[in-house]
Amino acid sequence: MSWWKDGVVYQIYPRSFQDSNGDGIGDLQGIIDRLDYLNDGTEKSLGIDAIWLSPIYPSPMYDFGYDISDYESIDSTFGDLKIFQKLLKEAHKRKIKIIMDLVVNHTSHLHPWFLDSRSSKKSGKRDWYIWKDPVDGKEPNNFLATFGGKAWTFDEKTGQYYYHSFLTEQPDLNWRNPEVKEAIFKMIQFWLDMGVDGFRLDVVNLYYKDAQWRDNPSRIFKGIRPFDRMVHIYDRDQPEMHELLRDLRTLVDKKKDRMTVGEVMMDPPGKVEIPASYYGNNDELHMAFNFAFLYSFWGASNFKKVVDEWEAALGEDNWPNYTLSNHDFRRHITRYHTRKLDMERAKLTALMLLTLRGTPFLYYGEEIGMESERVPKKDLQDPLGITYWPFHPGRDSERKPMCWDGGKNGGFTTGNPWLPLYSEYENRNVKKMQEDPGSLWSFYRDIIHFRKKSKALKDGSIVTGIDSSEKVFYFTRAKGKEKYHIVMNFSSEDTPFNLPEDWIPKKVILDNYEPGIQDRTIVESRDIHLKPCHALLIEG
Ligand code: GLC
Ligand code: CA
Repeated sequence: MSWWKDGVVYQIYPRSFQDSNGDGIGDLQGIIDRLDYLNDGTEKSLGIDAIWLSPIYPSPMYDFGYDISDYESIDSTFGDLKIFQKLLKEAHKRKIKIIMDLVVNHTSHLHPWFLDSRSSKKSGKRDWYIWKDPVDGKEPNNFLATFGGKAWTFDEKTGQYYYHSFLTEQPDLNWRNPEVKEAIFKMIQFWLDMGVDGFRLDVVNLYYKDAQWRDNPSRIFKGIRPFDRMVHIYDRDQPEMHELLRDLRTLVDKKKDRMTVGEVMMDPPGKVEIPASYYGNNDELHMAFNFAFLYSFWGASNFKKVVDEWEAALGEDNWPNYTLSNHDFRRHITRYHTRKLDMERAKLTALMLLTLRGTPFLYYGEEIGMESERVPKKDLQDPLGITYWPFHPGRDSERKPMCWDGGKNGGFTTGNPWLPLYSEYENRNVKKMQEDPGSLWSFYRDIIHFRKKSKALKDGSIVTGIDSSEKVFYFTRAKGKEKYHIVMNFSSEDTPFNLPEDWIPKKVILDNYEPGIQDRTIVESRDIHLKPCHALLIEG
């Protein structure tokens, strides 16, 4: 099996993982220093197989690296190309793959291509971006920018508007221009040749916009942001995207063992057919993110629906993946918060994420139960929060420094952290939780290592089910003679559960109420008793 199918991917937000030089911002040397934490080849470490790095290229940081001013270098905040190559080498030594973020829907407004493009209508790079004349003295159409305001900015000097899906400082590239494609493919080749194992493609369904620039219709549904009150039919998901992705697949597959995973914005949220369409017939992206869990409420039937719909949408040829948290959304522990059962729920979702059929994507800090916490207005960094405060507090709350220990600044930095620390860092930190075999951290570690040894969990079939009270979501993973049942009580009450008739349970292996790997034979009866938010992995 390819590494990207059976491995566990861990997303690092580089600014927030580990600072090595005391400037309060995480960096590549910091990541190198923590590689053994992620996977030192023994069962003592977490045991992940790949790292996805949010952008580390030179950037003026209007959107913290998602606005790139040079695609073939490293921002000095994080290090340089030499340190990056060292990271690659050190990671590979530990059998950890490196996935880079590829942000090519737009560049920074300070990228030399855009500086050239905006300098004159006659610039050779003019058509590398999207420039349009005013229509009746106004914007060419009604498209809105994701972070607020119109998607068009008027440029006094040349009397035209340019298009930006996000900030004014993030002009969109014109993918209809073959020179753009050529330049970007060349850059991708540069990283492939260096030995990078894969790419996460930022907002991959936005590259092409309607060829006729028609207005988007509006929606009755009232979202907080005007952007959410628009039906996005003309500013994304254009048919041209598929041909481009087939060409990209050909390029990437020329090298052995490389992968692509795309971020697909879903409209409406949760519609899994949209990301599924970007797999093509296993000839476009290797994977597209399924963000349905990010939008679904807690509950056995809600969660089962996500899995069933995704499995159905992908069909036989395409490989699933699951995500509970990332740098753009409230962390799942916070979304599913209940005062008393936080840890039980966090363990339940960990067991689910790491045993579903497909690639699990973890977000740094979820293994220690870091919560999203509102950052005070004076400390806000994220432009999204600044624009929509107080209605949308922005994404700083899920980008807080990793908590390594209970000491000063949680072991993240000796300087002033760029974002305030998670308030519970003295209780929830790596050091403390590693010492406790019953902690959330230990539970993640135990599942990951158990999964490594199981063909059924990595590569087996999946059959899902729900009990008649709709409180218990369960599924079975099987390959050859190996079989596991995962049982999850989503209710906050004690719940009786009658094992399905065709199960022949041997023993309980993992239990979110007990530390460590279990070896408990189920003998009493087929009626088992589940505690609130109880989760079990049962050998069948
Ligand atoms: C993606 C990124 C997000 C960024 C945006 C613009 O959604 O995940 O963090 O702000 O693209 O590049
Ligand atoms: Ca630093």
